[in-house]
Formats: sequence, structure tokens, C-alpha cells
Amino acid sequence: MKLGCCYYPEHWPEDIWADDARRMADMGLSQVRIGEFAWSRIEPDPGRFDWDWLDRAIATLGDAGLEIILGTPTATPPKWLVDSMPDMVAIDADGRPRGFGSRRHYCFSHPGYRAQCQRIVTALAERYGEHPAIVAWQTDNEYGCHDTIVSYSQAATAGFRRWLERKYGDISALNTAWGNVFWSMEYRSFDEVDPPNLTVTEPNPAHVLDYRRFASDEVVTFNKLQVDILRPASPGRDMIHNYMGFFTEFDHHDVGQDLDVASWDSYPLGFLEQFWFSDEEKLRYARQGHPDIAAFHHDLYRGCCAGGRWSVMEQQPGPVNWARYNPAPLPGMVRLWTMEAIAHGAELVSYFRWRQAAFAQEQMHAGLLRPDSGEAPAASEARQAAQDIEAIGDNRPTAKSVALLFSYEAAWLFDTQPQGASFRYLELVFDMYSALRQLGLNVDIISPRAALDGYGMIVAPSLPILDDQLITQIAAVDAPILFGPRSGSKTPDFAIPEALPPGPLQRLMPIKVSRVESLRPGLVEPIASHEISRWIEQIDAGTITAEARTDKGDGILFAHENIRYLGAWPDQAWMTNLFAKMAAEANITTRPLPRDLRLRQLGSLCFAFNYGTAALTLSDCLAGSADREFVLGSDLIGPAGLAAWVAD
Ligand code: GAL
Repeated sequence: MKLGCCYYPEHWPEDIWADDARRMADMGLSQVRIGEFAWSRIEPDPGRFDWDWLDRAIATLGDAGLEIILGTPTATPPKWLVDSMPDMVAIDADGRPRGFGSRRHYCFSHPGYRAQCQRIVTALAERYGEHPAIVAWQTDNEYGCHDTIVSYSQAATAGFRRWLERKYGDISALNTAWGNVFWSMEYRSFDEVDPPNLTVTEPNPAHVLDYRRFASDEVVTFNKLQVDILRPASPGRDMIHNYMGFFTEFDHHDVGQDLDVASWDSYPLGFLEQFWFSDEEKLRYARQGHPDIAAFHHDLYRGCCAGGRWSVMEQQPGPVNWARYNPAPLPGMVRLWTMEAIAHGAELVSYFRWRQAAFAQEQMHAGLLRPDSGEAPAASEARQAAQDIEAIGDNRPTAKSVALLFSYEAAWLFDTQPQGASFRYLELVFDMYSALRQLGLNVDIISPRAALDGYGMIVAPSLPILDDQLITQIAAVDAPILFGPRSGSKTPDFAIPEALPPGPLQRLMPIKVSRVESLRPGLVEPIASHEISRWIEQIDAGTITAEARTDKGDGILFAHENIRYLGAWPDQAWMTNLFAKMAAEANITTRPLPRDLRLRQLGSLCFAFNYGTAALTLSDCLAGSADREFVLGSDLIGPAGLAAWVAD
């Protein structure tokens, strides 16, 4: 459990580096990430490397006792490189090239750019692979940031055709799989297939889904290319990539196969402002972030890397520059976010950035220091968090409790065919996650391909494509399991299953979805004192009786042995009641929480986090003994405050 920061020695005069390094160590930081955007300084002209400054920067940081995470600079190819290969840039859906002058101006599929990446990564690996101060590598930076996963370039087109050929073997198999007889879309060879953009009306959804799968695979191989160079050249160092928030454009489980640590960049206030939260939530949590935003990603990314290792590579330290509105966190929030990550098992929380830059795109983005090197408010909170980490000592990982199954492919499928403007997969998943967290439960968000044993309860908010392997796994599980709306609603080729949804799930639960509807805002179906909005299904359940019905009498929740199918999107409070019932069946203790309070168990400790602007008294909020043995805080948790105690 370490703290760190992101540092850009190339932004600052060399005579302040040593003081910066000393101040980092004094603040309780022990790791520092550098280098990820420094290509133009490392290689100012083609083939001419300037290592001296980076040698000295690494030495200075290392001498202060800091461990270094070195980034590969492939998110920022320099101007000379782009000019030498103008077709290396990605092409957007409207057919326009993504120009030079910011970052991420490359196409994952361009073979020439891949060769350049191999060259620069090899040079870095040879120079610093065995440097004692280097403890880890970060590949590139935030794959997909600024909408850069899907490209419609010539290189991508060529790559897609080869990918299709490998998948389908011959073109008639593709025509059948996609249903290309519809609208005379049949092809005679793979070379006739273009990317699914610039069509008159919507392209064939099967075509789009394969393009998304292809684009995701391109990220996997792009990342692997770098890892394959770094691993042998830098033995014992961790391979890391920094993922983003609320981002599903590529399969993070697949990329994670090649990493040692999945990290992510946590900007709770920016995310609250930019995503689907209501105006009421945006105001209520403007300076805290919604209580489940950070935790959701901690629990998601813990499941993205084989060993479950994860960290926060960039932690918001103050106002950011990129959201529509950029307020400052409440005093205490930076410490709270830090310790919440630790409570979810993070190995590292690293603040972005050490010092606010006075120039260029991110000059309005706070750091731990102000541009004049004075401390910004986050500095003292980082110091406090360093002391908190000491105080809690070592904690063993927590036993498994609830698994939430999350599929990137499901996100692409529903993006491609939402069928209702407000049907957003990620929001459905977040809604259910939030309902679970309001019961005080520990949640692991895992891939549908992950092992399910050991979980007391399983929730699949929606898995439209159910494969045989998952059905076999489910059949072997006794734990209560819920499948949400549209589960089993598509074949892998993006068609409606022959026996209708939920498709393969019918092997375990003989029901049939005979009609689906999406509902515009305001058009709701009352259910007891709750509401179904956005989505509702009509289900033929044969002899299975409904466990819940709308006020009109239509069954929407069916249970068969340990499996439930929910054919609707009910409100969160309704979901919380259902999850409480499932938890009771599984003998899992729930603790219904006030709106602003969240709990997390880590080993022998229980943490509480107050996302509200008013103080909370734990003994009023939680059942059980009032005299807790606190290691952090006390029974009274102030606004943006936290406590941790030895769990009963
Ligand atoms: C991240 C990115 C950083 C920086 C930061 C600003 O998305 O990785 O380089 O731009 O946002 O909040």
C-alpha cells in the first residue's frame, strides 16, 4: 500500500528536480510515474536519442529513495514521426484524419506505427530495463482516451479484412452469420468488406459488433507488442496500463491478461459531471463525487488482471480542467478517495500530478503543488493518507462475497442496438452495483469467463450473449444468481436466438421472452410502490410462477431453483430489496446504509466513508455494538470523513 505521484521532469528546470524529489518523499510518497509523454525530448530527431536528461531525472528521483514507474511514450508520437508517415493517424467515423497537436493521434492498426513503437520501447527497455530505481512500466497512456479506439483508416480496413478471414474462413460463412441477404449486403470476398461507417442508414449490427471486436483485439496486440519487449529486458518489474473511468471501448479483461497490475485513473468529480447522473446528484455530490463512482472502478479493475493486483495511477487532487464544470473537492475528499482505494485493495494511489503546469492544455488542472511550488490543499491530505496507511497496518484480502458479472462485449452490443435511447449497459450495471453497495456489501466485478466458485451470490445485470461455458458454470453453482433484462437475447452473430430469449439460459430455466418494449422518460410501469422505466419484457413462463408482478399483473421476475430472471429495469430501491432477499437466502449479512455512507471490509478491518456534507454517527447508522475498536476516526464521521475499525 503505497502513495505516489505523476511527475514530468521535462516540464521543469533541472535545478528544482532534487527539491521536488525530496519534497515527494517528505510528503509520504514512495513511487513516481514519469516519461509517458516525453517522446519529443527522448528522440528530438529521427534516430537521435537524448538520454542525458532522463538519466539524470531517474538518478535524482532514485537518489531520493523514490521507486519509478516508467511510461512508454507511444501516446504522443512526435511531429517528425507523423510527418514521415501521415497515414499513421486514426480516421474518425466521418472519414476525417485525427490531426497532430494534442495526443493519441495514431491508429492502433498501422503497421508502420507499430514498428516505430517497437523501436522506441526497445530503446527505453535497453537503456533502463535493469535500472535499480525502475520498479514498473506503464504501457502507453489511457488506451482510448479522447475516443481513439475505433479507427476507419486504410490500415484498420486491411486489418479488419484479415481478422474476418481468420474468423470466418470463407465469405459465405460471414454472409450467413451477418444475415447479409437482408438488403442485398452480400459480399463475394473479404476484400470487398469495408468498415461499418459512412453508410446511408445504420449499418448491419453484426458488422458493427465484429468491427468493435476487431478494434478491441487491436488494442490487445498493440499492448502485447510492448509488454513482449519490456518483460525480458526488465525482469521482475511489473507491467501496468492505466485504464479510464466509465470506459468500455475495448476488452479490459483481455488486455489485462498481459499485465501484472491493472491501474486506473480516478477523477470522481469529472466523472460525476460528464456521465448520466441526475442534476440532483450532480449538485448533491458536486464536491465529493457520487459515493459509488470510485468504488465501482476499484472493484471492476481488481477483476481485470489475473492475480487481482490493481492500483490507482492517477488520483484527482483538486479541480480538473476537462469536465463541463470543475469544482474543488470538499476538504477531506482527497484523503477519503485515497483511503477508499486502499480499503478496496489498491497497491498504489498516485496523484495526478505533482505540480500544476502553468502552460499548455492542462494549465487549469490542479496538482499537489500549485504552479508556484506552494502546496495545494491536496498535499496535506496526501500526508494524512500516508499516516492512515501506517495506522491500518497490513491487511489480508477479504473473502469473496458478491460477484457482479461484467462483459465489455455486452457494452458494444447494446451501444450498437440500444432499442431505446436510455438503455445504457454501463448505467444498468452501475445501478445494480449501487443497489448492492447500499446494503453494505463487498462486490467483485468479474468477467463472465472468471471462476464463480466461492461467491455467495451472483448478479449478471445483463449478458446478451450467453455461451456454453458460462451456462455450464452456472449449472454447477448453488448460490442465488440473478440475470437481468436482455440476458440471452442474442446469438454470438447478433441475431435473435431460435427459441427466443433468454436463449441458452432456457436450458436451466424454461421461460421465453415473447415481446420487449423500451419506454421513453416518464412512461413507467408501477410495481408496488416502485417503478419500472426504460425497459420491460413480456415473459411466457409456463408453470413457473412469477415472484414479482407489475401493478397490472404482468410477471417480470421469475425464479427457478437458485436462478432468477428479471425482465425489466426497476428503480434502485426495488433492486435493493431484491438483493437483500437474495443475500438473506445466501446467509450474507446486509447493512442498509444511509444515502451518503458506504462501507468496505478489508481483511480484519471495516471502513466507513461519509460522502455527505453533514456529519454521521456510525452507531446510529449501523446495527451491532456501539463500542467499536477504531484504528482510524471515531463514531462521529464528519463531512468527507472516514473511519476504520476492527470488524465484529
Ligand atoms: C488523464 C490522463 C492524464 C491527464 C489527466 C488529466 O486522462 O491520463 O495524462 O490528462 O487525465 O485529468
